[in-house]
Amino acid sequence: MPPIIKSVAVAGATGNTGPTVVKTLVDSGFKVTALTRSASKTDTLSGLDVKIVEVDYLSHESLVSALQGIDAVVVCGVGMLPEQTNLIDASIASSVRHFLPADFASDLETPAKRSMRVHRDKVATLNYLQARQSSISYTCIHTGPLLDYLLNIGVLVNVKSRSITLFDDGEKRFSTTTMGTAAKAIVAVLKHPEKFANREVRVHDVVTSQNQLLRLAKEIVPDEEWSVTGMDTGDCEGRAREAFKADPDSRMGIQMEKVVGVFGRDHGSDFGEADNVELGIQVMTEEQLKEVLGRFA
Ligand SMILES: NC(=O)c1ccc[n+]([C@@H]2O[C@H](COP(=O)([O-])OP(=O)(O)OC[C@H]3O[C@@H](n4cnc5c(N)ncnc54)[C@H](OP(=O)(O)O)[C@@H]3O)[C@@H](O)[C@H]2O)c1
Repeated sequence: MPPIIKSVAVAGATGNTGPTVVKTLVDSGFKVTALTRSASKTDTLSGLDVKIVEVDYLSHESLVSALQGIDAVVVCGVGMLPEQTNLIDASIASSVRHFLPADFASDLETPAKRSMRVHRDKVATLNYLQARQSSISYTCIHTGPLLDYLLNIGVLVNVKSRSITLFDDGEKRFSTTTMGTAAKAIVAVLKHPEKFANREVRVHDVVTSQNQLLRLAKEIVPDEEWSVTGMDTGDCEGRAREAFKADPDSRMGIQMEKVVGVFGRDHGSDFGEADNVELGIQVMTEEQLKEVLGRFA
């Protein structure tokens, strides 16, 4: 039997998804180290049984020192090239066995998805890991849009303000996952790293559409006026193209590509059966989906 993973370092632990990942790992019995650029800004981790280690992602020595005794590294942080490739090199030098790069996004299986600017760093990181899989194994977890993260900022449907921007006709079906389930998928991978080694894994809570979300939201807050506006994903694609002509790293272009990647007519966003059964993660019922929406009313 391969040795079990006990000690896990989480990079980018202090941001949007990191605290949920850290808490789920701690609750599942892992010994967790949070890597941060500044130990003075770790309020989001307060109360959790986690060792906080300050690192410089541009220093090999700093990373190698932080990774002594670590079995697996999970990356939550974004904007991490060359930081993330540095972390992979330091992990190999520190005999870390398994690496989960930052992802929690669309699957990267089609050439159309892989060629999008928004996925550039993720694809580069995945290629980097694939080239080194004889030295360190990896698993890349795709989740589709993060349901609770996006509902909280009023995207997909804004239950609080009773408004929605429907992309095309609102019928596009897409896989979506809560941050809690994404974290459970990480735990499942770390409990059986050999089963999920050197592959991309797809997980979702549910496959839904904006029209279904709107119908459920209207049941949660009945008898209210809703503001419904529309956006054409072909226009979004055009706006992204124009933005990238002016600036190849345009934030607006990247935002538009995020929309196109999920709702665009040429992009598949429904994971089908995904890898839920292998991960031991059940799909939500419509009632459970409604309960999630209700948290944002
Ligand atoms: N599909 C979706 O809807 C969705 C939504 C949100 C996020 N995501 C994905 O989830 C993953 C995690 O995203 P997140 O939103 O949790 O990340 P985040 O909050 O933007 O960043 C997480 C942490 O990473 C560190 N960090 C940020 N920039 C860095 C840099 N340039 N170099 C080194 N460290 C940096 C920071 O921690 P310290 O300051 O403590 O070092 C930050 O708190 C990403 O892959 C992201 O694309 C997906």
